[in-house]
Amino acid sequence: MTQAKFITFEGVDGAGKSTHMAWFTGALRQRGIDLLLTREPGGTPLGEKLREILLHEQMHAETEAMLMFAARCEHLEQVIRPALQSGKWVISDRFSDASFAYQGGGRGVGIPKLEQLEQWVQGGLQPDLTLLFDIPIEIARQRLAGNVSLDRFEQEQGAFFQRVRQAYLDRAAKMPHRFIIIHAEKSLQEVEKELSHIASTI
Ligand code: TMP
Repeated sequence: MTQAKFITFEGVDGAGKSTHMAWFTGALRQRGIDLLLTREPGGTPLGEKLREILLHEQMHAETEAMLMFAARCEHLEQVIRPALQSGKWVISDRFSDASFAYQGGGRGVGIPKLEQLEQWVQGGLQPDLTLLFDIPIEIARQRLAGNVSLDRFEQEQGAFFQRVRQAYLDRAAKMPHRFIIIHAEKSLQEVEKELSHIASTI
């Protein structure tokens, strides 16, 4: 039996990652892989309460960073580590790369502070694979334009998302062994072809 893998999906809002995630998990299930689908912030009852606060309440950038990691701590202890230990693959819609991108790049929280939280909460644990859906910000913004109720992050300006995008790319360049960058402006068929290849080879 292959060891259970921890796979994360990342990208700026509007990159289409949630649609692609549903498709990718379908492809893994067809291979007979037992998996658990989860998300951040969230993934546990407490984490979902923190998600509501994080997406809708105004707060200091460092408070935001700490709450993201608090929700992650609960998620890791209650869901992610037990699932991996029992042989289930875990597919998470975002994980700590999002904190480096949004709180680090977007809000300007210092990377050393985020690294301290990461070390505290995760120890050495990192995803085995991270699919980063990269897309020009103008296209991502157009995709979000039809949404009637935007959350606190989605309401940010283009410059915020440019910084988030760049921070994701910097993180991918720092850890190339676990990142695959997917060009999310491509057609659905082209992205699915790429995902199909990844799902059959991991
Ligand atoms: P979602 O819309 O992809 O579910 O994510 C909710 C928002 O939370 C999204 O705008 C990104 C943001 N976020 C952070 O700012 N930091 C984090 O660590 C995580 C996990 C999400």
